[in-house]
Amino acid sequence: MSHLLTVSRAAHLTGVTRADMQKHIASGALPSHDGMVTTENLLKVFPDVRLEDSGAFERIAKIREEAFGRRIRERILPNQEVLAQRLTAQSEELAEVRRHLTSYHDLIGALRERIDLMVAASPSEQLTALGEFIDQGLAGVLGSDEPADTLEVLDDVLRVMTAHVKVKPSGREFFVEGNETVLEAALRAGLAPSYGCRNGNCGLCKARIVSGRTKQVHHTDYPLSASERAQGHTLLCSHTAVTDLEIEMLEANLPSDIPEQEIVATVRKIEPLATDIMLLHLQTPRTSRLRFLAGQRVTLSVSGLSANFRGDYPIASCPCDDRNLHFHICNNPEDDFARSLFAGVIKANDPVSLFGPFGDFVLRKDVVTDIAFIVCDSGFAPAKSLIESAVAADMPGALQLIWAATRDNGHYLENQCRAWADALDTFSFFTLKANDRPAAGAAAVTRLLAEAGSVRREVYVSGPADFVEAACKALMAGGLPAAQLHYESS
Ligand code: FES
Repeated sequence: MSHLLTVSRAAHLTGVTRADMQKHIASGALPSHDGMVTTENLLKVFPDVRLEDSGAFERIAKIREEAFGRRIRERILPNQEVLAQRLTAQSEELAEVRRHLTSYHDLIGALRERIDLMVAASPSEQLTALGEFIDQGLAGVLGSDEPADTLEVLDDVLRVMTAHVKVKPSGREFFVEGNETVLEAALRAGLAPSYGCRNGNCGLCKARIVSGRTKQVHHTDYPLSASERAQGHTLLCSHTAVTDLEIEMLEANLPSDIPEQEIVATVRKIEPLATDIMLLHLQTPRTSRLRFLAGQRVTLSVSGLSANFRGDYPIASCPCDDRNLHFHICNNPEDDFARSLFAGVIKANDPVSLFGPFGDFVLRKDVVTDIAFIVCDSGFAPAKSLIESAVAADMPGALQLIWAATRDNGHYLENQCRAWADALDTFSFFTLKANDRPAAGAAAVTRLLAEAGSVRREVYVSGPADFVEAACKALMAGGLPAAQLHYESS
């Protein structure tokens, strides 16, 4: 008998993205009912999935992790207690199935005996035929050497390793892996849950567990009231999932949902990306991480011996990248923070103050269409954050990046973009060069039309003001509705 799987779990098992799985469903190749697919139909679309190939998901995840430059996270077995509880839950399920099977088997046996007694008392061809039909059926079932449904077995294995979480009211889904807390897993999956301290003190990550079991894995000082406990509330930053969960959780959908924060981070790395662009890698303290939406900006400042240097920059990394924040900073003589960075005044391990986030150059979470990013020079930085976030969140629809450069080495992370295109079927990447920025803006839109046939999608434009202005003008002239156009000048 075929086994039913959610689309997320089917994607998880076959090692493709949820967006790819949705494409198979939309094309009719993979029938789905109420968001569920059968293992039988899944195997028709992915005939090569084998139990011994259960590393498929991990391989794809690793490619994606490496392609997106994040450190490889600890993806090991959950701790012994969680593992024991998951095995117990599966054993209980198995015992229940066995109990049912035994009952059905006994019932069939009793029916067969009853037929024999009836035939003995009053011979009947029909009853004899019925008895033979049951004998043949039993022989077929008991003597069958048909292998177990590969995907069902694989699903059982993965259910021990990971737990599936469905969020209300958004309907978003993600998996808790290894020893992650539910909050860590939600952030890694590109969600924007409410949280603050991440160490059990503030209570901002409080959520209601609608179904399933959690287990506390970190100490917490925040006192949940008796009525909150009775209603099933728990702190997501200190609990992992023992079983699959359904939770009610607050999520940030708009920039106004996120409070301004002031944090002192540490410089982890300063590295040239091109002759006039520097990567600044900051790391926030474990106890106070920056909460932001992909595409937002912050103010950075350092206090020198004689002056304060400050500047506003877009964050180039994904909110899903734990405590790591990246910035692509251009050498601009009018920007004193950039000047001090290029002059070596700011060094590794120095403290840097962050204030923010701000800006509304963010993804619309309700969007299911394709998304295009049209960027120029270091306007790539916020687009990088948006692309990484869209991929982490497995947003449906294709992603297209058109990167115009107006100077040498302008495509300073071209290899990374190529790696994304290699790792993801839904991502495409095009470069163009131009000396003149307004001309580059118009050329990028022409390129979009040539590749996509229409500008009709969500479009994010970022780069120098004259580039942005020219690209927006061309997009509007091409018929892009204003509500689908998002832009930010650097
Ligand atoms: S984030 Fe503060 S208690 Fe969980």
